[in-house]
Amino acid sequence: MARRRQLYEGKAKILFEGPEPGTLVQYFKDDATAFNAQKKGVITGKGVLNNRISEFLMQRLAEIGIPTHFVRRLNMREQLIREVEIIPIEVVVRNVAAGSMSTRLGIAEGTRLPRSIIEYYYKNDALNDPMVAEEHISAFGWASPQDMDDIVHLTLRINDFLTGLFLGVGIMLVDFKVEFGRLWENEDMRIVLADEISPDNCRLWDTKTNEKMDKDRFRRDLGRVEEAYQEVAKRLGILPEA
Ligand code: C5P
Repeated sequence: MARRRQLYEGKAKILFEGPEPGTLVQYFKDDATAFNAQKKGVITGKGVLNNRISEFLMQRLAEIGIPTHFVRRLNMREQLIREVEIIPIEVVVRNVAAGSMSTRLGIAEGTRLPRSIIEYYYKNDALNDPMVAEEHISAFGWASPQDMDDIVHLTLRINDFLTGLFLGVGIMLVDFKVEFGRLWENEDMRIVLADEISPDNCRLWDTKTNEKMDKDRFRRDLGRVEEAYQEVAKRLGILPEA
């Protein structure tokens, strides 16, 4: 791997300076954290699998016209992405109650929601990523009303498409988190899908057995974490090279 200047190290990924201006290299680590890094561990091979899974999902989304930061995969653990200005909001979509929604609202895990629900969380580790309303987002200038229109529109399309894609391989998309960024081209700005989409930030349940195939296996010490990620990749038809 060529020596590259590291720009940022997150919990599961590292960003390096890219080969051309306006590009970055996104490196996927095996490190896993949960509960705002109170729980730490390593899931062997996770970085390789998430690199492949995220590549696959971003490519499929690009094919239906969702703009993304993804350019191409470089190797087992790295992908070339476009440099964007990350909007400091985690956008969570829920189709079925689980996780923090079940805890907060007392709705049993597995209850299908009357409709898909979008929630926003302010990206701030020191504050534990608090949930915020659109009012906070616009009042504090984290995103403009036009940005939010684009984000909601894109998020609903991503949810519809991924729900169907996963259902086709026997997986229920319970919920997931996405992030968006601003991509500047000359004077023009577009909102694009950024970060990653992988079992680290989705809840994926087997449609027949309801078995969890995502990071909840790590969060809840259910075991067979790597196998679950592998099974997702296998069902999507994208197991990594040996
Ligand atoms: O924990 P919670 O139920 O709010 O998570 C909802 C969804 O968002 C889950 O799929 C989880 O994996 C994802 N998430 C994430 N990063 C966070 C918080 C949640 O990817 N910081």
